[in-house]
Amino acid sequence: MKRIGVLVSGGGSNLQAIIDAIKEDRLQAEIGVVISNKAGVYALERAEQNGIPTVVIDHKSFNSVVEFSQAILECLKRYQVDLVCLAGFLRILDRVVIDAYPNRILNIHPALLPAFGGKGMYGHHVHEAVIASGTKYTGATVHIVTPETDVGPIITQGIVGVADDDTPESIAAKVLKVEHQIYPEAIRLLLEDQVVIDGLRVIAKK
Ligand code: GAR
Repeated sequence: MKRIGVLVSGGGSNLQAIIDAIKEDRLQAEIGVVISNKAGVYALERAEQNGIPTVVIDHKSFNSVVEFSQAILECLKRYQVDLVCLAGFLRILDRVVIDAYPNRILNIHPALLPAFGGKGMYGHHVHEAVIASGTKYTGATVHIVTPETDVGPIITQGIVGVADDDTPESIAAKVLKVEHQIYPEAIRLLLEDQVVIDGLRVIAKK
C-alpha cells in the first residue's frame, strides 16, 4: 500500500477529501502522517479523529527555509511516505525536499494556473485577484511541485464560473468543492502510474 504524507496549515478540508476517498475505496493508499507548520489547526483534529499520526513542525522555530525543510524531510522519511500532498500548506519548501521526491510532491492551488499563481497568491488573495481581473472563469489546479512556486506540470484542473455578484468568499466556497473532487483523482492517477510527465505536460498513458 502506497503511503501519503499530507502537509497542512489550516482547516484541512482537502485532507478530509483525501481521507474520504481512501475510506470509499476511490483511492488505494494510506496516509502515513499529517504534518502542520501550525499547532492547533483543525486539519490536525481531522487527522487525529481518523487515527492518523500528526506532527507539528513550526516554521518559526527554524532560522531558515532550508532548516525548516530539512526537518520536514526527516519527518517524511521517518514515516516512509511515497508521495507528498500539499493541502492548504502555506509555506515554501526548499529544494532539499523537492529533490528527495522527484515528481512525487503535489500541490492544490485555488485558481487555474498558470494564471493567478506565484508568491503571495494563496487563499483569499487569489480570489480577490480573480475578481479584480474581470475573468469569467476560475477553478482549481493540481500540479507537481517544482522549485519555482506554482509552475510545475499540471495533472488536472476543475473550472467554476465567476458570477457578477461573486465575492472572494463565494468563489472560495465554489472552488473548494471542485478541489475536493479533483485532488483525490489526481493522486490516484499518479499513484497508479497512469500518466507520463513530459516537460510541463502530463499526458494520460494509453
Ligand atoms: C485551499 O483552497 C487551497 O487550494 C489553498 O488553501 C485552501 C486550503 O483549504 N491553497 C493555497 O492557496 C496554496 N497556494 P483546506 O485547508 O480546507 O484544504
